[in-house]
Amino acid sequence: MGDRKITIAIDGYSSCGKSTIARAIASRLSYNYVDTGAMYRSVTLYALRNGLINGKMLDTDGLVDQLDAIHIEFSFNPESRVSEVLLNGENVEQLIRQMDVNDWVSQVSAVAEVRKKMVKLQQKMGQGKGIAMDGRDIGTDVFPDAELKIFMTADPDVRAKRRFDELETKKIPASLADVKANLLARDHEDMTRKESPLRKAHDAITLDNTHLSREQQLDFVYELAIGLIHKKKNAVAG
Ligand code: DC
Repeated sequence: MGDRKITIAIDGYSSCGKSTIARAIASRLSYNYVDTGAMYRSVTLYALRNGLINGKMLDTDGLVDQLDAIHIEFSFNPESRVSEVLLNGENVEQLIRQMDVNDWVSQVSAVAEVRKKMVKLQQKMGQGKGIAMDGRDIGTDVFPDAELKIFMTADPDVRAKRRFDELETKKIPASLADVKANLLARDHEDMTRKESPLRKAHDAITLDNTHLSREQQLDFVYELAIGLIHKKKNAVAG
């Protein structure tokens, strides 16, 4: 069966709703979903907790030295029906959404050794296909051979408002101006870093969701996925 399943890579700017669509398409296809941003966020939380971020500095060497002590895995929560991230066995799904993690995650995720470790883990998780993974480098570096690659974008004001509403729902304090500044700064850092910068894969399909509902986006991705799955089935049958 594995050879009839496809890999779906969803990349794009911060707060475009990548994880919402990746999770929804995975659920519709009964595929696994992996939120790779949660992995980089968990490493950032580890760094914050272990004195590797002091004031304005990230201790890159210290973080690299401690990489072997950082274990990241996902655990399915049947109540929320979401795979939640565990950092050394502790569920940190909520903690990693706080603003202090937002402020540092781009710097942490720019460290080559951190990326190497995360990419290896992600490739292992997607080995059997039947996976939807969202991030910044999934279609370019993690799964360059993914059958379906989506590159998501949306107007920055719309993105800031969506993230602000999400934080408000979760009762995480923040101002709309700070949220917008943070996401623009992260976009800039993610696009200009040396290690696997955010860019659209040459074979990715752009999905600008500024004016699209969640259902419209999901239908768009679903139609593409089903077409590719049928193509693959026919190729296997033929
Ligand atoms: O998707 P997110 O906002 O939760 O991601 C948090 C940060 O992690 C983002 O600013 C960039 C980084 N990231 C990355 O470099 N590569 C990925 N595959 C996923 C996230």
